[in-house]
Amino acid sequence: MSDSERKPVLLSGIQPSGNLMIGNLIGALRSWAELQDRYDCLFVVVDLHAITVPQEPAELRRRCLDFLCLYLACGIDPVKSTVFVQSHVPAHSELAWLLGCHTYMGELSRMTQFKDKSKKQGENIRSGLFFYPVLMAADILLYGADLVPVGDDQRQHLEITRDIAQRFNQLYGDVFTVPEAYFPKVGARIMSLTDPTSKMSKSDENPRSYVALLDAPDVIRGKIRRAVTDSGTEVRFAPESQPAISNLLQIHAALSGESIPSLESRFTGKGYADFKEEVAEVVVRAVAPIQERYRQLRTDKAGLEAILGDGAARAERRARRILDKVKRKVGFIPRT
Ligand code: TYM
Repeated sequence: MSDSERKPVLLSGIQPSGNLMIGNLIGALRSWAELQDRYDCLFVVVDLHAITVPQEPAELRRRCLDFLCLYLACGIDPVKSTVFVQSHVPAHSELAWLLGCHTYMGELSRMTQFKDKSKKQGENIRSGLFFYPVLMAADILLYGADLVPVGDDQRQHLEITRDIAQRFNQLYGDVFTVPEAYFPKVGARIMSLTDPTSKMSKSDENPRSYVALLDAPDVIRGKIRRAVTDSGTEVRFAPESQPAISNLLQIHAALSGESIPSLESRFTGKGYADFKEEVAEVVVRAVAPIQERYRQLRTDKAGLEAILGDGAARAERRARRILDKVKRKVGFIPRT
C-alpha cells in the first residue's frame, strides 16, 4: 500500500474498571464503531491504567474479557481493527518511562483528573496515578495515532500528550505524530443520574448514578425514573439552571438521533414523568442489541482469547518500530 493510500491511524482505550456504561458508549465506543472504516484503528483494553487504583485480581481478569466482548458487541470488528490488551504489549510501559523522563512534575500536578481521583484514595495515593497521563501518552504515540476519540474528561490528557510529543520532536527531530482529539458532537460529557453536577462514572460506588450497558430493561427504567430532576417543570436545555433535565436531553438526543430543539418542542407542556419514560425507552432500545451480541460472544472464551492473541501480535510489531526509533534518538546503543 502506498503512502497516499494509507489510512490515518486512530487509537483509543477504556480502563477495565467498574461497569461499562452509557457515558462510555456515547462519549467513546460509538465514535469508535463509526470511524472504524475510515481509519486504521487500534482499540485497547488499558489494564495497566486500571491498577493505578486498587483492583481485585480475579475481578480484573474477568473484566478484561467482559470489556473486550463489549467492544465487539458495540460494533468493533477485530479483523478490520487491532483489538488488544495493553499489558500484552510491553512497549507501552517501556515508552512511558522514556516519555516520563521528558515530562515535568508541574505539568502532571495540573491534571484535574489526578486531583479528583487522588482525593478518593485517602492517604496512600499510588504514584502510578500521578504518572498515568504519561502512560496514556505512550499508548497514543507508540502507534503514530492521528486521531483519538474520547469524551470531554480526557481533554487535558490529550493536551499533555501533544505537549510531550512536540517537546520530544523539538529535541530529537520528528519522531512522533502529534495527535488530534475527537469529541462526539452531542454527549461528550454525560452527567451522573444522582448528581447532575458531576460526570457519570463507571466506577461510581452508587450504581444508580449510571446506566450500565448490561443493565436489564427494568433496572434501566427504574434508574431513569428515579434520576434527580430540577426544580422547574419544563423540558428545556439549560445546563446551568436545569442540569438534570439537560443531561437527560443529551442522553436522548445522542442515542435517538433526534435534535435537542425538536425534543424541547415535542415535550412543551408535558411533565418530566412523560419525558423520563421516553428517555428510558430510548436507552433500553439502544443497549438491547449490544446485550444480545454480548451474550452470544461472552461464552466463547477461547475465541476471545484468540482475538487478543492476534491483536497483541499485530500491535507489538507496530509498537516495536517506533520504540526502536525513539531509543536510537535518545542515544541508547542498539542491541546486536
Ligand atoms: P475511561 O476508561 O475513564 O473512559 C473511557 C472513555 O469513555 C469516556 N467517558 C465519557 N464520555 C462521556 N460522558 C461520560 N460521563 C464519560 N465517562 C467516560 C472517556 O472520555 C473515555 O473516552 N485515560 C482513559 C483511557 C485511556 C485512553 C488511552 C484513551 C488510556 N489510554 C489512549 C484514549 C487513548 C480513561 O481513563 O478513560
